[in-house]
Amino acid sequence: MPVFDFAPFPILKTERLLLREVVLRDAQAIFALRSDYEVTRYNIGRAYTGLEQARSVIEDIAAGGITGSELRWGITFAGQGRVIGMAGFSYWSPVDQCASIGFDLAREFWGKGIMAEALQAILRFGFESIALNRIEADTSAANAASIRLLSRLGFRLEGCQREQYFEAGRFHDLLIFALLRREFGA
Ligand SMILES: CC(C)(COP(=O)(O)OP(=O)(O)OC[C@H]1O[C@@H](n2cnc3c(N)ncnc32)[C@H](O)[C@@H]1OP(=O)(O)O)[C@@H](O)C(=O)NCCC(=O)NCCS
Repeated sequence: MPVFDFAPFPILKTERLLLREVVLRDAQAIFALRSDYEVTRYNIGRAYTGLEQARSVIEDIAAGGITGSELRWGITFAGQGRVIGMAGFSYWSPVDQCASIGFDLAREFWGKGIMAEALQAILRFGFESIALNRIEADTSAANAASIRLLSRLGFRLEGCQREQYFEAGRFHDLLIFALLRREFGA
């Protein structure tokens, strides 16, 4: 049976990164991350305009951790405090052993394999430590970096929801990807 008890918060370490819980003192870093429209456009839509939104998302993540509906890590370089991105699970269905994964990274760090490194650790945790069977990801059809990243991690394209969301004056297609436990690392 899956275990959804996250006390203490599961810190993950990779070659370059330390993934940890986000706390209120990370509000400024998360505001910096999410006040950049290039980071939010495919993900949460509008960029943050106030620090309060960063505080509120940190509180929501903490609440989701308590109820077991969400598990999201702050991405830092090992030995450095600053949160440069976030990634983790939401839309959790313990019965189906299925969750969705979401991720975003500060623009200055794009293209260095950082999210691939973070997601490898998070996927391993999902499949091995909390017994997920299926991890889904949806991404805008226009989000080439995300599509490339998911494909490299072994996610398979399962479908396209045509004109699923409206942003910047027009409708956009949403692609649905998923990775199964038995495919992970295959
Ligand atoms: C998507 C995102 C997390 C990727 O982070 P990252 O650390 O740069 O990703 P990685 O370097 O690990 O991998 C990205 C891959 O996409 C490729 N890529 C980047 N931009 C690309 C583009 N415009 N077209 C095609 N491929 C692109 C990179 O070359 C790399 O592939 P490679 O390793 O084969 O060379 C980052 O761009 C981001 O935060 N974007 C905004 C938020 C977002 O879109 N989140 C996902 C919502 S579903």
